[in-house]
Amino acid sequence: MEGGDIDRDRCGRGSTAGIRQMQSEKKVNLTINSYQDDTGTIAALASVQKAEKLIHAMNVNKEYAPILGDPKFISSSIKFALGEDNEYFKNGLAVSLQTLGGSGALRVGFTLINKFYDGKKIVFIPNPSWKYHERIIRSTGLEVSTYKYYDPMTKDVDFNSMMEDIKKMPDRSIILFNACGHDPTGMDPTKKQWAEISTQIKSKNILAVLDMPVQGLASGDPERDAFAVRKFVADGNKIMFTLSFSRSMCLYGERPGCLCILVNSKDEAAKLSSQLKMIIRGLYSNPPVNGSRIVVKVLEDPGLRMDWRSELREMADRLVAVRRAFKQSMIQLGSKVNWDHFDRSVGLVTMCGLSLEQIEKLMKEHFVFLNPSGRMVISALNSKNIDYVTRSFHEVTK
Ligand SMILES: Cc1ncc(COP(=O)(O)O)c(C=O)c1O
Repeated sequence: MEGGDIDRDRCGRGSTAGIRQMQSEKKVNLTINSYQDDTGTIAALASVQKAEKLIHAMNVNKEYAPILGDPKFISSSIKFALGEDNEYFKNGLAVSLQTLGGSGALRVGFTLINKFYDGKKIVFIPNPSWKYHERIIRSTGLEVSTYKYYDPMTKDVDFNSMMEDIKKMPDRSIILFNACGHDPTGMDPTKKQWAEISTQIKSKNILAVLDMPVQGLASGDPERDAFAVRKFVADGNKIMFTLSFSRSMCLYGERPGCLCILVNSKDEAAKLSSQLKMIIRGLYSNPPVNGSRIVVKVLEDPGLRMDWRSELREMADRLVAVRRAFKQSMIQLGSKVNWDHFDRSVGLVTMCGLSLEQIEKLMKEHFVFLNPSGRMVISALNSKNIDYVTRSFHEVTK
């Protein structure tokens, strides 16, 4: 869990164990990377609970899943990401498999790249990026470098620098993007910018890996969140993408994830599938069966799907409302700092913009715990703690 990230000497009491021990009633932990509702508990969705009851009533057994996972889960997930009518999917050219969450999808995908990709074996990741990206990629033996993504001064995507860096990348290298709800900044390129990125990637024949762990939770609309993936596909780019229902269905511990690689021929698809089977045999044999069954039920039952879509919208709307409330409260307190980035960013996380010294002060004097990078989990704010948190932010930023 992301809470472990803050286990750094510099932050003393900011370690995970430290946070747990802290008995202060004021304690607020803004590092927990799972969606919490307004009561401060990890949400459980009604649509998901209904799906679980229906599955339980079916008395299904717990036989092993196939090595590449449950075919129904795979097809529902890929249709969810690419859209119902995608030609690659319809023609058997979207090689896909069920994985252990989005992390497992990244691990398997980069293992495959390291073994078989015949371009430059260097992966460019955004600066900053989710901290485990680098660890997962390096663990497969691939090299990692970075490209500029975010400007801490403007607190926005640094599009020009990003494009310059992409232009400098060797042809046929590999690039990683967050498809939506960029972790840790919460800032995504606009549709127009994605289109320019896609053109540039294509001209350099770069392999793009799009990591999509929060489809639907960034904007509340899964179609809109899938824009980058669908645009890259429509433009004929070589891509691989990951998908996870951990956050969008609040199924963290069930690990329902997916990896998809688009190929040009059925022959290539068959070869790739057999290589993937060998990789998975050597890693974990086959994926778990419960989470994937729940996802299939929710996605394939029209009533449950509708219920889930409105719950997803509610979660995303709450995140928007909390961001606004945070900014509004800072203004009311008389803060001289510009907090516009709070309602410009999307999804679960935001780079709050505090310095390390301010973060330390926040933790030591106010017991408000943040990742030292400034990454802040927005859903950890709620009507009970937002007043205290904004007052604490104001104190350390005066
Ligand atoms: C950017 C990013 N990618 C992938 C993941 C992994 O998702 P999962 O929990 O499904 O393994 C996370 C989780 O925090 C993430 O933030």
